Amino acid sequence: MHIPVLLKETIEGLNLKEGGTYVDATVNRGGHSKEIAKKIGKSGTLICIDLDQSALDEAKTNLEKIKNHPTFYFVNSNFRHLTSILKSLNIKEVDGIIADLGLSSQELDISGRGFSFKGEEPLLMTFLDKPDEDTLTAKDIVNTWSEENIANILYGFADEKYSRRIAHAIIKRRSLNEIKTTKDLVSCIEKAFPSSYKFGKVHFATKTFQALRMAVNDELNSIKDLILSANNYLKIGGRICLITFHSTEDRIVKQELRKYEDSFKIIKKKAIIPSDEEIKENPRSRSAQLRIAEKYESIKI
Ligand SMILES: C[S@@+](CC[C@H](N)C(=O)[O-])C[C@H]1O[C@@H](n2cnc3c(N)ncnc32)[C@H](O)[C@@H]1O
Repeated sequence: MHIPVLLKETIEGLNLKEGGTYVDATVNRGGHSKEIAKKIGKSGTLICIDLDQSALDEAKTNLEKIKNHPTFYFVNSNFRHLTSILKSLNIKEVDGIIADLGLSSQELDISGRGFSFKGEEPLLMTFLDKPDEDTLTAKDIVNTWSEENIANILYGFADEKYSRRIAHAIIKRRSLNEIKTTKDLVSCIEKAFPSSYKFGKVHFATKTFQALRMAVNDELNSIKDLILSANNYLKIGGRICLITFHSTEDRIVKQELRKYEDSFKIIKKKAIIPSDEEIKENPRSRSAQLRIAEKYESIKI
């Protein structure tokens, strides 16, 4: 089960209005959308987006059970295409947007797409539940990219301090045979890590897996595109709520919101984080940070 993170804070942050039009850019199975749908009611509109079609199908089943639910649109797409999604639905402006970034518990634990370093799964790491031949995968990256490019994404996307050693171990291993599974990859990373660092609080493969997933899904550029669309489509007074799970993601969110400071007012300087109680109930929420911005009318002199 995926438990929605910072639910109360996000719902408050969106400042929901009955009858309003909202976008859940990462609906998954509808954890946040369920509360949004109840609050905006029958006269509202909720656009639910996810790259994972199976999650979207479940969201549809769950959300359509709500009494007096709003008009729903379920869109299997990347949220980076929000502008074209809204154009195709003939929606000119929205009252709020939420994106709860990253992956769901189901994607991590049971999707079999290689997000977890715990088992042995094919190295896909894509949010698409049915990738085709042209979909970039983590297997493509580790078996075909240059040592320098691999090291750069490990360092740039996840601050992995052993990026060069890990990239080198990957190149060495692939010269013998293809790296096919998460287990193959974990064994390369393990070889590159000094033994004293292997038993820290955070698993030694965490950052490499995070960086590869971010590269496969072009996550940082997708966030930039989403914020650009939000700037164009939010009504004055409309809000965007963005939940991130690591510092690289949060840095991009802050940087992009600041880029549009002529039209976005940051609601709280400091990010909102989960309470001790929430972390106890849902340990996966521990690294979550919520940032909220409101569209305002810029006066040009
Ligand atoms: C953390 S989950 C969202 C959980 C949801 N808020 C809830 O509480 O039920 C993130 C979801 O975003 C989807 N996702 C990630 N990146 C995406 C993107 N660029 N475009 C569309 N969906 C994306 C994933 O497939 C996943 O289902």
